[in-house]
Amino acid sequence: MNPAIDYALSYAPPTAAERKALSLLTPDAGPRWHQKLDHALLTVTALHGGTPVGLGVLHVSVVAPTGVDSPVELGAMYVHPAYRRLGIRERIAASRLTYALSTGGTPITVIDNRNPASWRHFERSPQWAVEKEYIGWPTGWPMTIWVATESSWYRTHKAPPVTGGALLESV
Ligand SMILES: CC(C)(COP(=O)(O)OP(=O)(O)OC[C@H]1O[C@@H](n2cnc3c(N)ncnc32)[C@H](O)[C@@H]1OP(=O)(O)O)[C@@H](O)C(=O)NCCC(=O)NCCS
Repeated sequence: MNPAIDYALSYAPPTAAERKALSLLTPDAGPRWHQKLDHALLTVTALHGGTPVGLGVLHVSVVAPTGVDSPVELGAMYVHPAYRRLGIRERIAASRLTYALSTGGTPITVIDNRNPASWRHFERSPQWAVEKEYIGWPTGWPMTIWVATESSWYRTHKAPPVTGGALLESV
């Protein structure tokens, strides 16, 4: 049976004490991780029996070369290995996307192309589309910026034009 997971939403950057607990949930709680948390609009924590087992942040510390207007980024996503493939990321991603859209900014997320667990999620979701690929620095790894298809930026710049042509021909 799947464990009962609770989800906590916080709209302020995590405090030092909160970060200490959350840092156990990432292999790299370095300066960039703290930078994202410093600029967090929303922090979603998955809890099992009060213990954090998953984390995702919505932040505005964007360093990827996106061309979207007012980017708000879904980042710092991590699920404890013992709790993977239970849909925790799906839930955390959905909460962050809903809130990101409500801010009026353009939701983006940046994925390392070599990460199949992330790629699979974004590739199969109609709520996300590729904005651009680029080579990360200093890693040299190929990265992809995904943009929310429900954002006004996407609908203005990337969505296929809606025409009445096909409809007119069929009547
Ligand atoms: C990526 C990660 C957050 C996924 O978390 P998760 O809670 O296990 O993901 P979910 O259970 O919500 O998975 C939803 C879907 O994503 C895909 N997916 C998840 N993990 C996958 C994997 N290891 N390989 C392939 N597809 C995967 C599947 O389609 C899955 O649906 P399914 O289980 O019904 O097949 C987790 O593996 C993780 O923390 N990895 C290390 C850190 C990381 O890569 N973070 C993301 C940086 S962008």
